[in-house]
Amino acid sequence: MSSMIGHARTTLLERVQQFAYDDGSYPFLRRMSRHHRHTYDHSIRVACYSLKLCEAMDYTAAEREIVLRSSLLHDIGKLSVPVCLLDKSEALSSTEWDLIKEHCREGDALLRDWGVSGYVDCDMILYHHENVDGSGYDGIPEARLSLSVKLLRVVDSYDAMTVSRSYNKRRTHEEAFDELYRCSGRYYDPYVVDAFYRVMCSKCC
Ligand SMILES: [Fe+2]
Repeated sequence: MSSMIGHARTTLLERVQQFAYDDGSYPFLRRMSRHHRHTYDHSIRVACYSLKLCEAMDYTAAEREIVLRSSLLHDIGKLSVPVCLLDKSEALSSTEWDLIKEHCREGDALLRDWGVSGYVDCDMILYHHENVDGSGYDGIPEARLSLSVKLLRVVDSYDAMTVSRSYNKRRTHEEAFDELYRCSGRYYDPYVVDAFYRVMCSKCC
């Protein structure tokens, strides 16, 4: 796994793409790209937001690398979810929902099988759909959710809201932040939402 995540004169996207290419995680991302291109693109964008945010939150270089890799691979468990389900525009049955929700545990299991779980923050993979009020996929209480997990919860949701899907109308940047703030303290950590808002409103990237 690579230890390079920063070059002064490249864009954020280029830095993340370069990290992904150099890093041992890229073969897994390439599999995702073949399985479901949208999830691959989503993972790259989420990693960009995560890197930007953890830099603003003064994570160390070593911590940033873990967050970046974990963000790139957070949805890798969707390799086990049929594409027809990932793209389904009609309402999902409870069985289908259960299968979708399983992607967090499935991702953790895949990374263990591949022998790379020691290079990621497993909690970020397992808990990225957990809410601070305990109402997430597995109802994990806030006390067990790290700052990195909360960070990923926010940037993952922002990207999901600002990209058009067959089942989801794209929201503007402003609408997405209205929603993040509306659910701040319930789904999202208020400190992380504030920090992400400042980062996304700043001109530099
Ligand atoms: Fe996910």
